[in-house]
Amino acid sequence: MDHFLYKNGVLHAEDVPVADIAAAVGTPFYVYSTATLLRHFRLFDEALDGMDHLVCYAMKAASNQAILKTLGDAGAGMDVVSGGEYRRARAAGIPGDRIVFSGVGKTADEIRTALEGGIRQFNVESEPEMEVLSAVATSMGKVAPITIRVNPDVDAKTHAKIATGKSENKFGIPIARARAVYAHAASLPGLDVIGIDVHIGSQLTDLAPFEAAYQKVADLTEQLRADGHNIRRLDLGGGLGIPYERTNAAPPLPTDYGAMVKRTLGHLDCEIEIEPGRLIAGNAGLMVSKVIYVKSGEGRDFLILDGAMNDLIRPAMYDAYHDIIPLNEPAPGTEQQPYDIVGPVCESGDTFAKQRMMPPLAADDLVAFRSAGAYGAVMSSEYNSRPLIPEVLVKGDQFAVIRRRPSFEEMINRDTIPEWV
Ligand code: LLP
Repeated sequence: MDHFLYKNGVLHAEDVPVADIAAAVGTPFYVYSTATLLRHFRLFDEALDGMDHLVCYAMKAASNQAILKTLGDAGAGMDVVSGGEYRRARAAGIPGDRIVFSGVGKTADEIRTALEGGIRQFNVESEPEMEVLSAVATSMGKVAPITIRVNPDVDAKTHAKIATGKSENKFGIPIARARAVYAHAASLPGLDVIGIDVHIGSQLTDLAPFEAAYQKVADLTEQLRADGHNIRRLDLGGGLGIPYERTNAAPPLPTDYGAMVKRTLGHLDCEIEIEPGRLIAGNAGLMVSKVIYVKSGEGRDFLILDGAMNDLIRPAMYDAYHDIIPLNEPAPGTEQQPYDIVGPVCESGDTFAKQRMMPPLAADDLVAFRSAGAYGAVMSSEYNSRPLIPEVLVKGDQFAVIRRRPSFEEMINRDTIPEWV
C-alpha cells in the first residue's frame, strides 16, 4: 500500500496534489511519501517483533539525506556499501552503532573512515579484505566486529543482473569453505568474529529461496559454534520484492517473511539484522514527467516525455516494468490506446514501455511512474547533458524540495579546460 491515490480525480501524494508540485518545481522530478516510507519500515520492524533485531535500510535504494533522517529518526539502522554512503548516513544523524558496512571492494580508506566514525559491523566478503581490515584496525588500536558474507549457492529466481547468491556471482565466500575462512578470521588480531551475513538477490517474489538460504545459515551457525566461534548475530540481507505490476500476484508481505525468519532461525537465539531497500523506498516514490509530443509513427504512436533513461534507468537496464499513470484520473469507461512511451535521449534503449495501454494523452499532460522510489534517483546520470532532476518529500499537506535541480551553469562549470587546450 502507498499514499499516492486519486482524490476527486486528481493524483495526490498524501494530501498534496502532485500537479501542485509540478507547478512549483517543474518536470521531471521525483516525489516521496513520508507516510509510505515509515509504513514500510514499521512493517518490517513489527514482523520481527519478539526477536532481538535491527532493520538496516539498504540506503543504496534512495539515499537523500531527508529520507535517511526520516527513517533514522524512526529507529532504522543503515546498510552502507561505500565511504560515500557511510558519510551520508552519519551526516543524516545515524549513529555508527546502527550502521553496517557491506560490499565486495571496501578500500583501506573506507575501512578507516568507518572505524574512526564508529560502526556496528563490517560484512566481510573475502579473505584479502579480512587481512586488510585486521591490519587497519590493529594500526588504529581497534578491533573490528565482523560477520562474513557466505554465498549459499541458492537460485534467487530474479533478474540475472540482481541475483547475488549463486556460486558464479562475485559476492561472499563459498559456504562450503566457511569453516576454514572463519578459522582464518579468528586467527587475525584486529577482528572480532560475531556472526554470519547472507544476501541472495533483489526483487525476490517468493520466500522459498530465502528459506533455503536461511536454512543453510542455521546449519552453519551450529557448525561454527561447535568449532568454538561465538556466533551471535545473523545479517539476512535484503531482497524482498514489491508489486510493480498491479495485475500480477503480489509478492509475500514482510509479515510472511518475518514468520519464516522466526521459523528457520528463531531457535538459535541470535540477534537478527535485515537490509531491505526496495521494499521500504520503492513504492514510496514516483517519477513525474510531462508529455512533450505525441508523435504518430508507422503503425504506432509515441508518447515523448521530458523524463528519460538518464533519470530512471531501470526499464533500459533490467527491462523493468513501471506502472505509468496520468495525473488526471481518466473518466470511467475511457477507451485506452497503445503507446510506446519514450524519453528524448538519443538511444532506442530510452524506451520506458512498448505498446502500453493508456488513456488518450496530449502534449503538456503529466504522467507519474509508480514504484520509482527505489533505484530511481540514485541511479540517475547527466547523460545527454540533462541535469539531475529534483527530489521532493511530502508529509501530509506539506512538501519540500530535498534536492534541487542544478542550473545548467553548475553542471557545465564542474568541468575545467586546461590552459594548454
Ligand atoms: N543488502 C545488500 C548486500 C545488497 O546488495 C542489496 C541490494 C540490498 C541489501 C537491498 O536489496 P533490496 O531489498 O533493495 O532488494 N538496481 C537494481 C537493484 C540492485 C540491488 C543491489 N543490492 C534495481 O533497480 O532493480
